[in-house]
Amino acid sequence: MNGTATGLRPYALRCDHRTTPLGIGGRTPFLSWRLAADDDAPRGTAPAAYRVEVTPDDDAHAGWDTGRVEDPEAIGVVYAGPALRPHTRYHWHVTVWTADGAEGRERSWFETGLDAGEWRASWIANDWTAVEVVDPPEEGERALDAHGLLPCPLLRREFSASTTPVRARLYVSARGLYEMRVNGRRVGDGELTPGWTDYRHRVQYQTYDVTALVRAGGNVLAATLADGWWSGYVGFEPRRPGAHYGGFPQFIAQLHLDYADGSSQVIGTDERWRTSDGPIRYADLLMGECHDARRAAGGWDEPGFDDRDWPAARVGDTDTATLVPSVDEPVRALAELSAVAVTRIGPERHIVDFGQNFAGRVRLTVRAPRRGQRIVIRHAETLDDDGGLYTANLRTAAATDTLITDADTVVFEPRFTYHGFRYAEVTGLAELHPGDVTGVVLHSDTPRAGTFDCADPAIRRLHENITWGQRSNFVSVPTDCPQRDERLGWLADAQVFLPTACLGADVAAFFTKWMHDVRDAQGPDGGFSNVAPRLAGVADEGAPGWGDAGVLVPWHLYRVYGDERFLADSLDAMCAWVDFVHRHNPDLVWRHKVGPHFADWLSIGRPTPREVVATAYFAHSAELTARAARVLGGDQADRAERYAALARDVRAVFTARFAGPDGRIEGDTQTAYLLALAFDLLPDDLASRAARRLAALVEEAGPGLTTGFLGVGLIAPVLDRWGRADLVHALLRRTHRPSWLYPLRHGATTIWERWDGYTEEHGFQAPAMNSFNHYALGSIGEWLYQGLAGLDQAPGSVAYRELVVRPRPFDGEPCWAEAAYDSARGRIAVRWRQDDDGFRLDVTVPPGATATVHVAGDDHAAVREGEHPAGESPGVEFVGIETAATGGKTLVYRVESGDYRFFARRTG
Ligand code: BGC
Repeated sequence: MNGTATGLRPYALRCDHRTTPLGIGGRTPFLSWRLAADDDAPRGTAPAAYRVEVTPDDDAHAGWDTGRVEDPEAIGVVYAGPALRPHTRYHWHVTVWTADGAEGRERSWFETGLDAGEWRASWIANDWTAVEVVDPPEEGERALDAHGLLPCPLLRREFSASTTPVRARLYVSARGLYEMRVNGRRVGDGELTPGWTDYRHRVQYQTYDVTALVRAGGNVLAATLADGWWSGYVGFEPRRPGAHYGGFPQFIAQLHLDYADGSSQVIGTDERWRTSDGPIRYADLLMGECHDARRAAGGWDEPGFDDRDWPAARVGDTDTATLVPSVDEPVRALAELSAVAVTRIGPERHIVDFGQNFAGRVRLTVRAPRRGQRIVIRHAETLDDDGGLYTANLRTAAATDTLITDADTVVFEPRFTYHGFRYAEVTGLAELHPGDVTGVVLHSDTPRAGTFDCADPAIRRLHENITWGQRSNFVSVPTDCPQRDERLGWLADAQVFLPTACLGADVAAFFTKWMHDVRDAQGPDGGFSNVAPRLAGVADEGAPGWGDAGVLVPWHLYRVYGDERFLADSLDAMCAWVDFVHRHNPDLVWRHKVGPHFADWLSIGRPTPREVVATAYFAHSAELTARAARVLGGDQADRAERYAALARDVRAVFTARFAGPDGRIEGDTQTAYLLALAFDLLPDDLASRAARRLAALVEEAGPGLTTGFLGVGLIAPVLDRWGRADLVHALLRRTHRPSWLYPLRHGATTIWERWDGYTEEHGFQAPAMNSFNHYALGSIGEWLYQGLAGLDQAPGSVAYRELVVRPRPFDGEPCWAEAAYDSARGRIAVRWRQDDDGFRLDVTVPPGATATVHVAGDDHAAVREGEHPAGESPGVEFVGIETAATGGKTLVYRVESGDYRFFARRTG
């Protein structure tokens, strides 16, 4: 609802970075909005003040009104009204005024979840004695079936509602995975719920509005459970399933019904639920799923089903202390891919190519099946030389789904597994048509934020591959890969890719959740881990660059989203981490407590010395911890001082120990210079020498790169900052390995784990570690937006308050690039083109932001903006001419919010 006579429109209202979330937990949510200018609003229309009003559904209780707050920079406010009541819907309005008094208004809502003390339900499980398995398992023990896995339990409970409720909320979770149904209808569209956390600390529950599903009279609540991360195979070095958290899946749910007469009814999980095993004979994230359609219990999820033979559920504990409301959006089926080819490779055997490597599963329609027909779907990222699936790199992940048909047509899509694949082999059908198979793409629902395009089709494809790498690996946690027996939340992978990830999608809620995982995984001594959620025995002690993600990630999230709570929630953990490194390395060279020290993982050639990598990260983490404390201010001021001093000391030690007077850094590798320069570790004179040496090393290599995971995301920003965008262009366009475009020669549709995952000479890299869908090396994505397209924020800016628009044109015809990004403040767009006529640049600056715009050229008189000479154009101020280290010149302008069209006529 917009006010009249507006200059600005608030939109994309979010509560804790989610749109209309149901069941939030925090009692001080962050209510944020973005701004768009009306079409006729003059340039420079900027917010001057805002007001947020929050009112509970039930007007018997007090709301909150900020009143008019004069704050031109605000993008949100942390709720500070009367204590929020549980399971209550709150409506909120934001009003934004311009300096001229024009008003824009928009509304949204959020709803609170249960108070921790309101859980009445118990954890329940299948009665394993009634399931056909050889040995009924005990808690912590599994019977052996296909992969040591057991059938997926069904649970149901009928209840009667005296009349139709006016409001029904269902709170659900599982130790394992659940799919919930009410009266035969599926509840929600989340997949793999409740998601992965370290279940020993935290189990997320989801809240559903089921008002439309509950009716007067008989109703049924029905759930299917699966092992998931709780009791299935997790990580590598496969253990017996159930080794990490628990032995078999368990379920908890509580339904709250409110009636018109003010009465209410609560139904929770207890011994009145009945259980059975159903058609899913096993389901596992790594191994796959087996569905025996002959065992389907028709109508089991409808009221009136005869469940007299079903035993009562086994009631486990009533420990609800670990239950917390989800803070992220669940995994959802977010896209579908059609088969681009179906090839028959033998009798009853076909290979399906979906044309894209992704994470998800196959939906298969089987027409006129014979009862008992066995159809097997195997998955792989690539094919071997004979045209069959190449599965060696999946290691022990069987990634195999099996369907045993009944006599009716079936549409089969596994429920509780996912695979990383482009190709599927379907066995057991004489004929398979492309229309019979669909690739269902699964990932955590992180709304798309950025778009990028440019004249070079190879770079366009590279960007696509980066985007697919992100989609495939943001599955409840940021994983390293979606296909093999690993799929872990490796900390370095996440931190190096984060800047790119934030441009690709709105990942604020996703990383809010993961930062809980990271902090849950922190040891009592302050040590972060290498993977989060922590998995016992998986490289527990955080390595340099890995553990540091606990500091780097919240800092970056704060800069992108402007929500100080990213820092407030993590500051203690950040300090504890820096203290931990400091305590064990009092001489400030980080060599003790380095965990498995992965150094610059998967780099090429000479390794970067481990102490150089580690000490650089030590300095950087201390510096960012100081900055975080400074932002929070108040009683954190002392900490800001202390960590700033520590950072200075570590930088001094780094310079003294590792840098020579000529700027050479020990190891003399690209990554050694990149860390030193990106983290500002060197005094100015040494920094410029180090930058020259870096450029020389890149040139000597081809130009080429030798960086691994830690260096790769820094090479473009650092070279560019030191005036060598020309070298970045050369690296980007290089097509022989190692390079970003080399995998395209081999048909890559995602980013590879290794620079040489497949080569003409040697074929596939060692299958022990060769994923074709790892996002870390895709961290060049940041520069495609910030450098190539030129859409960036200034170094000290937060939430895109101060933009820097500085495209880096490249040689070649046609030469253009464009990017758009839905920032926390509003939409930013940049589009440029260079041709024989000159240089054109279109820029959109959102309300409340300002931008420094660089137009290629050196003649201010030859530049127009829209209808005017640039110097006379409203809202445009000429600042001066800037010369890059390589000689290229740009004309620099300051602009306010609005749309601009610059054109610099070619003069030379
Ligand atoms: C993972 C990585 C991870 C690394 C640690 C690998 O197995 O796939 O991406 O960061 O181990 O070195």
